[in-house]
Amino acid sequence: MRKKLVVANWKMNGTSADIGAMLTAMQKDSVILNQIDVSVCVPAVFLSNMHAACGPLPISWGAQNVSDKAAGAFTGEISAQMLCDVGCSTVIVGHSERRLYYGENNHWVAQKWLATRKTALTPILCVGESLSEREKGQTLAVVMAQLDAVLKITTAKEFAHTVIAYEPVWAIGTGLTPTTNEVVSVHTALREHLVKQYDSATSQTVRLLYGGSVKGDNAAQLLTLANVDGGLIGGASLKYDTFSPIYKALI
Ligand code: PGA
Repeated sequence: MRKKLVVANWKMNGTSADIGAMLTAMQKDSVILNQIDVSVCVPAVFLSNMHAACGPLPISWGAQNVSDKAAGAFTGEISAQMLCDVGCSTVIVGHSERRLYYGENNHWVAQKWLATRKTALTPILCVGESLSEREKGQTLAVVMAQLDAVLKITTAKEFAHTVIAYEPVWAIGTGLTPTTNEVVSVHTALREHLVKQYDSATSQTVRLLYGGSVKGDNAAQLLTLANVDGGLIGGASLKYDTFSPIYKALI
């Protein structure tokens, strides 16, 4: 049985005070937070504060991006090892905003993903189709191409226990969501693809998250579907009052 996972993606928002306020409010949910996994992915400059800010809270934290390189003259980059050094457990890799605005293609995303596997970080690989791709019936082809770029350079052992987040680009920050049938069909296809590529045992260790306009009022519906092991939450993760109903819906 896979434990549910809820990941907060703060994107380029908030202050250290905002993060502190949310984590302080979350302290009262410790009993709930012990039953699921929650990881808060904050802007990189705040990561080194997270150990102190989380205190005894039973959650982990992570980054929103990582370099494909291990070390060296790569100005502005942050390596997987550095993220481990400040206590990160998770890192989002290949978010659609990185693909769209910063030119990350499938090959580059796969290299970043591989860099995380040289450390103890758990990568959260984002995949998802644009609206025009969905309208042309290309959803599965696009998503599988994004996944295959990683699968072709990795082993079953490296892929086991990692996370894939299915995030339709047109659902991110728009208030639009796919139907429950559409979510189940992509997630089931992803799971079957892993069985075909590796084996059933490996595929069962991978958590598949849904992301895109998840809120307190649709979390129970979207995040408890077959083959959905939790969610990747953007806008609603920025405040306790909008984030906590999402993880509470999974208990
Ligand atoms: P959203 O973003 O929840 O604001 O739609 C999700 C994401 O981009 O990960």
